[in-house]
Amino acid sequence: MDTSRMFEFPVKEFFKQPRSLLGAGAYEQAGPEAAAMGMRHVLFVTSGLRGTGIVDECKTNFENAGVSVTVYDKVESNPKDYNVMDSYNMFAENECDGFVSIGGGSSHDTAKTAKVVAAHDGRNVNEFQGVGVSETPDTPPLISINTTVGTGAETTPFVVVTDLSSEKAPHKWVGADGAFTSTLAINDPVLCMTQPPEFVAFTGFDTLAHGMEAYVGRVQHLSCTPLGLKSVEMVQRYLREATYNPNNYEAMEGMVWAQYIAAQAFSSALLGIMHSISHAVCAYYDIHHGLNNGVGLPRVMTYNQPAAAERYADIAAAMGEDTRGLNPAQAADKGIEAVIRLAQDCGIPDNFSRVDPNYAKSEMGKGTFYENRPTKIESDDEELQAMAEHVMEDVCTPGNPRDLTVEAAKEIIRDCVYDPMVRKTTNGYRQNIWGADPNTGRMTAQRAES
Ligand SMILES: [Fe+2]
Repeated sequence: MDTSRMFEFPVKEFFKQPRSLLGAGAYEQAGPEAAAMGMRHVLFVTSGLRGTGIVDECKTNFENAGVSVTVYDKVESNPKDYNVMDSYNMFAENECDGFVSIGGGSSHDTAKTAKVVAAHDGRNVNEFQGVGVSETPDTPPLISINTTVGTGAETTPFVVVTDLSSEKAPHKWVGADGAFTSTLAINDPVLCMTQPPEFVAFTGFDTLAHGMEAYVGRVQHLSCTPLGLKSVEMVQRYLREATYNPNNYEAMEGMVWAQYIAAQAFSSALLGIMHSISHAVCAYYDIHHGLNNGVGLPRVMTYNQPAAAERYADIAAAMGEDTRGLNPAQAADKGIEAVIRLAQDCGIPDNFSRVDPNYAKSEMGKGTFYENRPTKIESDDEELQAMAEHVMEDVCTPGNPRDLTVEAAKEIIRDCVYDPMVRKTTNGYRQNIWGADPNTGRMTAQRAES
C-alpha cells in the first residue's frame, strides 16, 4: 500500500543521537575520551578559530592523553566539496585513526562527510548527497567539539556541503544518513564565549529556525517536536543577552542548551523551506547560514502561517507574546512581529541587498567560485528563478507545513533580497503562489491549465 499518497510522513523515523557531554569544562574531556576509544592519531578538522587559542589548547589536551594530532585548518564557511576531500586526503596520508571537529557546523559537516568518504575508500564527496546513500555505517570515530550556539551539526545525522565541481555546481546539498553522525558530541559554553557578537546572533537565528521548523513541520515526531518549541522559548529568553554580553555564562549556557535541543528536534522532525532557501542563497552567495535564516524567517513564517496557524500561535506564546483572547491567526501574526523585533535587536539586516557577500565569512571563506561574484546581492529574474528551482529540489522542502511552488519560492526569495523586514498585513505571497498575475489577480493560462 502506498500510504504516502494518503497522508504525509506516515512512518516517522527516530535518528539515534550520539553520546554527548555538555557543560563548563566538557571540552577538556575530549583527549581522554579519544584515548579511551582507542584513538592514537587523530585529524583535527577546523577553520582554525584563529585568535581564540582553542585549537592549540585542544591539541595539548589530546597529546597529554597520548593521542597524536595532525591539523587540517582550512575549513571554509559553507564547507566546499574540496574541504572534505582535502581533509580526507590528509587523514589517509597521515594514517590517522579518528577525526576531531572543532568549531561550528562547517567544521563538523566537513569531518562528518570526510569520515563517510574514508569508509568508501575516498569516493567523491558529491556522491553522498540525498537520503541513506552511505553503503556502510562503519566509519572512523569522530569527536565533535562545538563552539557555536547554532549549528546542531555536532549531534545530527545530516551534512550540508557545497558542490563546486560537478555539472550541478553551484549546488549546496544535504546528506542524511546515520553514518554521518558523530561518535561523541561535546558542547562547552565556555568555548562559545569566544564567538564574535554577530556570530552569536547569526547562529542563534539558526537555532531559532531549527526549533521553529521542527515544531511547525509536517513530520510531527512527538518525541522531538516539543523540544523545538522549548528551544524557541530559550532563544527568546537568552539570545539578546548572549549576543551583547557573551561573558554572561547563564545566557550562553541557555543558548547552548537551545541549540542542542533544537538539533535533537530537527534530527527526527526535520526542517522546512527556511533551510531550503538558506541553502540556495548560500550556493550563490557564500554568506552565513544563520544570517540567511535571520533575514528569511519572518518571510517564511508569513508564507506558512495560513497552513499551520495553531502551531504558529504556540510559537508566538513561546516568543513571550500575550496571545490570550486571540484566534490562532491573530496570535501567529504576533509571533512574526516578535521574531522581527528579535532580529532587529540582534542586528540582523533588513534584507540580502544590505549584506556584503564578503561579510560574515570565516577567515578562509573565499572559495574560488565566489571570487568573481558581485559585491552586492541584487538577484535578477534569472538568478531568482535558479535559486527557486534549487529550493524546490532541497531535501528540507517536503517537511514544510505548506506546499511550495517555484513561483512562491521565487517571490519569497525576492522579498528576502529587496523588501524591508516588516510583517505584511496580508499574505503577500498569496497571489503569486497560484500563478496569478500580480497586477490583475487573474490566473495565468499556464497555471490555470495545469
Ligand atoms: Fe541550520
